Amino acid sequence: MSSQAPLLYERVARLVESQISNGALRANERIPSVRAMSRTAKVSVSTVVQAYVHLENIGLIEARPQSGFYVRAPQLKRLPEPRPKPARAPRPASIANEMLDMCREALERSDFVPLNGAFTSPAMYPTQRLNNLMREVLRDHPLNAGQCILPPGHEELRRQIAKRMALAGAPADPAHVVITGGTMDAITLSLRVVCRPGDTVLVESPTYFGLLQAIEHLNLKVVEVPNCPVSGIDVEAVRAVARSTRLGAAVLMPNFNNPCGSLTPDDAKREIVEILTGCEVPIIEDDIYGDIHYGATRPSSMRAFDDSGLVISCGSVSKTIAFGYRIGWAVSPQFHAEIARAKFYSSVACPTLQQLVLARYYESGGYDRYLRRVRATLAGHSQHAIAAIAKFFPEGTRVAQPPGGVVLWVELPRNVDGAELFRTAAASRIGVAPGVVFSAKADYRNYIRLSCGLPWTPTLERAIEKLGRLVAGMARAV
Ligand SMILES: Cc1ncc(COP(=O)(O)O)c(C=O)c1O
Repeated sequence: MSSQAPLLYERVARLVESQISNGALRANERIPSVRAMSRTAKVSVSTVVQAYVHLENIGLIEARPQSGFYVRAPQLKRLPEPRPKPARAPRPASIANEMLDMCREALERSDFVPLNGAFTSPAMYPTQRLNNLMREVLRDHPLNAGQCILPPGHEELRRQIAKRMALAGAPADPAHVVITGGTMDAITLSLRVVCRPGDTVLVESPTYFGLLQAIEHLNLKVVEVPNCPVSGIDVEAVRAVARSTRLGAAVLMPNFNNPCGSLTPDDAKREIVEILTGCEVPIIEDDIYGDIHYGATRPSSMRAFDDSGLVISCGSVSKTIAFGYRIGWAVSPQFHAEIARAKFYSSVACPTLQQLVLARYYESGGYDRYLRRVRATLAGHSQHAIAAIAKFFPEGTRVAQPPGGVVLWVELPRNVDGAELFRTAAASRIGVAPGVVFSAKADYRNYIRLSCGLPWTPTLERAIEKLGRLVAGMARAV
């Protein structure tokens, strides 16, 4: 695993960042030229350029033609964060399958501006390197790709994943890792292991629609607790539900909830783990976005606070390395054998070639360096998208400022229907995810989720401008 020491360009970027934050450099002030900075910081010109591009990406400075780099003026308009919805009566309700089918179909439309997805652009994946490793694997082991690696999965890949868990404060034993077909596979296998049909599962509101569908199709019920874009999972609501309801499991997304992007702080994670494991409720943690933090450190896994062995941590390479590889994992000291058994009876195994390639990719280093670049790029994309929403959407709009992940949660003026916007935007070939699909009770009528994982381009800006006009029209037409 590569070390976390800052790279040279990061040192330079931090120097400028600290001068901006302590006021030594003010808005619209010219920052030292590339050459001057290269001399002062005793680094190469190309390192300074890399640092300045990074600062530009995260919205701190801007290049002015023929003139140099300047401290960017703060956004003219900063929108407030969306509000959490109080959880209503804890009665499970069916989710809007028809709407979800339409959302899935929209994701398949290659002619759409894909603001509806929750993924990074495949152009960012380390594809060249993965392809080279794939050729290497096929050359070294020509017969391996056709052989089956039964659960728990490829040993070296499990070792690499166990090692990376230390970065989330929760080192793992490779024997406790089960390779799965992505995070959703890991979650559904875990639910099958820990729950019985009819059990109630605690989830956040809002939460990922795929999770709600999986719960429904496993004949489980849901009870929701609020997740606030600013403060994360509501601990007191978890406590109240744990007191009043017999729970089979909880499925939680403390690191960059999809859709609202919130990060639940460590103290809250600790308390939630204590409350739920104190009632012997297994926690299935969806940590798919944990590696995509915009700040300096990776947030903790809930396993870091667990002494009981009841937390199962799930993740995958879908948001970071390659969505199409369909490789993920479940990590659990207590349930790994049962999860491996469930994997075998439900779909036998995971693809061999992808496991071998990923094991080599992690083993050969460079993933952390790659991630640093991706994170800086995504932080920049999200700032651009937030600024465009502030500029083009009408009064009454609110937008989350997530500290990580690939999506933005947007609250629209009260009378605007996100599902109607989904349809009208589709007619203009723009994809958006309507808020109603992110709750079992079809709450969030006037919310949408927009992607911030795509490279910032004029096409994207025009799409957000168009959405802003559509929303303004709908807000006026009471
Ligand atoms: C929160 C969350 N969990 C799980 C998934 C599915 O992940 P995977 O591709 O690893 O199965 C997604 C995909 O969008 C997601 O956003």
